[in-house]
Amino acid sequence: EDIVPFYGKHQSGIVTPMQDFICMGAFDLTTTDVQAVRELFKSWTEACARMTAGQGVGDESTNAFLPPKDTGEAIGLLPTRLTFTFGVGASFFDQRFGLAGKRPEALIDMPRFKGDALVDDWSNGDVVVQVCANDPQVAFHGIRNLARIARGKAVLRWLQQGFQRTGAADPKGSTPRNLLGFKDGTNNPDVKNASVADEVVWVPPTDGPAWMTGGSYMVVRRIRMRIEVWDRTSLGEQELTFGRHRDSGAPIGEKDEFAKLDFSKKDAKGRPLIDPASHVALAHMEGKVQILRRGYSYSNGIDLKTGQLDAGLLFICYNRDPRKQFVPMQQKLAAQDRLNEYIVHVGSGLYACLPGVGQGGYIGDTLL
Ligand code: HEM
Repeated sequence: EDIVPFYGKHQSGIVTPMQDFICMGAFDLTTTDVQAVRELFKSWTEACARMTAGQGVGDESTNAFLPPKDTGEAIGLLPTRLTFTFGVGASFFDQRFGLAGKRPEALIDMPRFKGDALVDDWSNGDVVVQVCANDPQVAFHGIRNLARIARGKAVLRWLQQGFQRTGAADPKGSTPRNLLGFKDGTNNPDVKNASVADEVVWVPPTDGPAWMTGGSYMVVRRIRMRIEVWDRTSLGEQELTFGRHRDSGAPIGEKDEFAKLDFSKKDAKGRPLIDPASHVALAHMEGKVQILRRGYSYSNGIDLKTGQLDAGLLFICYNRDPRKQFVPMQQKLAAQDRLNEYIVHVGSGLYACLPGVGQGGYIGDTLL
């Protein structure tokens, strides 16, 4: 119940049902020795296998003269479905480690999208780790111990925590709401269905490179919400923006959250019920392109210069080939989405998420 196995064909934390909390960070490698990177990935693998099973990192420390191996804040806590999901960015394939020839074509340099206001410090990184759990302290403990193990080999470049409603507040587990108040995730592809997951998420052997088989591409966008502006916007305008009703989550004109989106329906004046520039109308991509969204809300206190909330969506999605999925979708949204008035993309990353690890193997063993 509380354990999601770390080892498997695919990494966990991708098609795994979403946990309540995330603590996600990107590392920059400070070593230039590929053997040191290999050692780091091996140590990380061992630590992740232990932490996801509810054990501390390393053997119990009994030497009073040394710092303990595990940092301690998760002692006595259940693992609460802790998962670690690793990916490597384009910079992993620069001249430092001699891996340039292995860079997947799908691991593109992300194009600039209209309206992007990206901050370099919140973007990219050599290695990304998505840590999710149903407890915020367990998730934090996870990334903190990875950072500790990395000492001398890698440093955190950025770190972002995120949340959604917990199981305690919503025992039925209905679709979570984002900070704009709308249900978010309704029309995610049903990846419990293996053929859907294969189509949308997992890299098949035919796509190449061979070391990515069973992996996926993760896109991260830190999207700040202009919450104060949104909160002064009428309900009608808010619903027009998304193309769905706020409270029920149903498409405009419908009652049921899961009613099919029908863009041919018109109102009494002959206008489309779901506005063509609404978020769902555009993101639907005529039903031809899908991604698996797995994002979390974030709240980083306030912007001390303006007094406004620094909050938004830590957008995360998985796709088999970003050139065919995320990029065309975001190009369309960036150009036309009504939602753009209320959001701004401030961080970005694209990572090749490694295939799963078998017992005895280590994360990245197909690449390194
Ligand atoms: C649908 C919110 C950014 C892709 C939705 C829905 C909401 C929403 C409320 C409708 C419910 C659902 O089906 O989940 C947001 C917010 C965003 C954001 C608040 C930014 C802060 C993005 C981005 C992308 C994206 C950057 C991809 C480039 C989609 C897709 C759907 C969707 C594919 C489903 C469309 C369909 O029904 O076929 N989003 N979204 N969203 N969004 Fe977003």
